[in-house]
Formats: sequence, C-alpha cells, structure tokens
Amino acid sequence: MRRPLVAGNWKMNGSKESIKALLDGIKQGIGDVNSAEVLVCAPSIYIDGVSSQLDGSPVVVGAQNMSEQTSGAFTGEISGSMLNDFGCQYVIIGHSERRAIYGEDDALVAKKFAAVRAAGMVPILCVGETLEERESGVTETVVARQIDAVIEAEGIDALADAVIAYEPVWAIGTGKTASPEQAQDVHAFIRGRLAEQSADVAAKTRVLYGGSMNAANAAELLAKDDIDGGLIGGASLKAEDFLTIARAAG
Ligand code: 13P
Repeated sequence: MRRPLVAGNWKMNGSKESIKALLDGIKQGIGDVNSAEVLVCAPSIYIDGVSSQLDGSPVVVGAQNMSEQTSGAFTGEISGSMLNDFGCQYVIIGHSERRAIYGEDDALVAKKFAAVRAAGMVPILCVGETLEERESGVTETVVARQIDAVIEAEGIDALADAVIAYEPVWAIGTGKTASPEQAQDVHAFIRGRLAEQSADVAAKTRVLYGGSMNAANAAELLAKDDIDGGLIGGASLKAEDFLTIARAAG
C-alpha cells in the first residue's frame, strides 16, 4: 500500500507573520487527517522557523530546490546537508518553474535528484508537459524523457523510495486542472514506465498530481487508482483548503 502524500509547495510566498498563521491553522486541523502524510515545502529561509513551529506535529517539512553540489564555492546555493540539518525530509526537484525560468535541464535535475538522496532525504521529481506539447500529442514522450533521465543516471532502484509529481505545465497556477481521466492516464503511463524496469519499484513509488488542485476538485482526482496524493501550490497557502485536500487523500 502506498501511503497518500499531500504536499504544499508555497513557492516564493509568505512572511514570518503569514506563515505562523498558516501553520497554526494546519496544526489545529491536522487531527482530522487520517492516513495521509502531510508535508509543507517552505522557502529555504523560513525552513528553520517552520521546523520549530511544527515540532511535535505530524506535519513534515521540505524544501523547493537545492544545489547538486555538496559544499564549497557556490555563492547563493544551499546544499542537501544544510536542508537536512534543519529538519527537511523531502526536496522538490525539477519543478517546471525551475526548468523554464532557471534553465534546469534533465541532466541537472538528475544530479539534484542524486544529491537529495545522498543527503538522506526524499526527492519529489516533477515532470509534465506544456500546453503546446500536449496539443501536439507528445505528452508521454516528454514525461518519459524526464523520468528516463533519472533512471539512466541513478538506476531504477533509486526511484523506489522517491516521489514523482506529474504537473502538467498548462494546469499550474491557471485554475485549469487536468480532468481526473487525463491525470490518471498519465499517472498510469508513468507507473507503466517504471514497471518496464521493476514491478516492485512501480508498485512502491508514489505519484502525485499537481496543477490547480484545490478543495473542490481534489477528491475526484485523488479517487483515481494511480494518483497517490497532490502537490499543491495556491491552495496550500490557505489552511482550511489544504486540510480539506489532505482529508480527501486520507
Ligand atoms: P498550483 O496549485 O498553484 O496550480 O501550483 C501547482 C504547483 O506548481 C505545485 O508545485
């Protein structure tokens, strides 16, 4: 059985004050969330404070990006051991915003994936097609390429304890969600791709959906066989909405 995971990606949002209020809200309602694992991925500078505020709560902490390097002269970068030092358990890797805005390619994403694991944390590997790619019928080709880059560099077993997030780029922040059927089709394709190399890994790896998932549409998406949770942007900034999604997953 794959334990559902509901992860908030706060992106570059929040302040000390707003984050405290958000976490207070999440902590108050987390008791009703049954079986799902709940994760918040905070901007790096807030991770220390978030970890302290979540001390004693079942909610876990993650980061949104990290360096592929371990230490040294890399001005402005943050390493896996630093994130781990502050209680991070998960790191989002290869988010489409990092691929599109900061030019991260498949090879760099594979290196970051390895660095997250080497630092003892769990990578959340984001994959997904643009609208143009979907309309030209290459969704599966794109997603396969993004996943294969990691398998080729790290081997299939590296995926067994990892998380994959399918985030169609056209659904991110647009209010336009993939239909449950569209999402399930790609999730099943991803699991099939893993299964070509290892049925065991395919059965274990959690595949999350991300892209305008919210309190109103989460239950339908999460009801699909191969959707093991969500990676939530905008709706993760509102405690009640985020908790509604987490309850739907549990
Ligand atoms: P939204 O939920 O705001 O569409 O963002 C999704 C996302 O990019 C999560 O990583």
